Amino acid sequence: MSQQSTRISPSILSADFSTLGEEVKAIDAAGADYIHIDVMDGHFVPNLTFGAPVVKHLRRWTDKPFDVHLMIAPVDPLIDDFVAAGADIITAHVEAGPHLHRTLQAIKAHGVKAGVSLNPHTPIESIQHVMDMVDLILIMTVNPGFGGQSFIPVLDKIEAARKLIDQTGRVIDLEIDGGVNPETAKQCIAAGADVLVAGTAVFKDGPSGYASNIAALRS
Ligand code: DX5
Ligand code: ZN
Repeated sequence: MSQQSTRISPSILSADFSTLGEEVKAIDAAGADYIHIDVMDGHFVPNLTFGAPVVKHLRRWTDKPFDVHLMIAPVDPLIDDFVAAGADIITAHVEAGPHLHRTLQAIKAHGVKAGVSLNPHTPIESIQHVMDMVDLILIMTVNPGFGGQSFIPVLDKIEAARKLIDQTGRVIDLEIDGGVNPETAKQCIAAGADVLVAGTAVFKDGPSGYASNIAALRS
């Protein structure tokens, strides 16, 4: 399936955690297509965020798809909890364990969309044999764990992912995460991306800037 129109998935990692429900409502109203939810365990990545109970409470604040990016290891024991909490897309990292195929099977068994994420150093070939199972490929353009980092230009990997997707003839989102701003967004879209995650670039000016910040990434 060829590249779809650009969709924006604001990362609530950069939101005000003390009013997270209101923040989700605000980015929904500002034009977010997905809500990107970064789950970190302090083990797979050197930072902690929140777990499924928080996601469950956020569910009533929007009808937009919950794009849940799991930066946790192991992944499998918590899949049920995130599905029950209202996740629409669950993305696991290639690097999070030895049995990616099993993890994707477990996600798909719940009828939600399955995503796979690659750290900046991980070659695209690592997902070649699971392409029939994935609904989303998430290419990391920073080392996961923190918002506000500089974009790592693995544009050749984005291009290679686009080719792999086009060969399947299926609808698979190609999502980029890390250091996305209006300038790097252009490079990602040119390389074949169709979903852009952005934390800092969306939330930086407070709620009055959300709509224009989202629009700036899309154009
Ligand atoms: C990083 C997270 C990203 C992060 C992006 O580990 O996966 O989603 O929030 O933040 P920015 O857009 O600030 O690089
Ligand atoms: Zn993320």
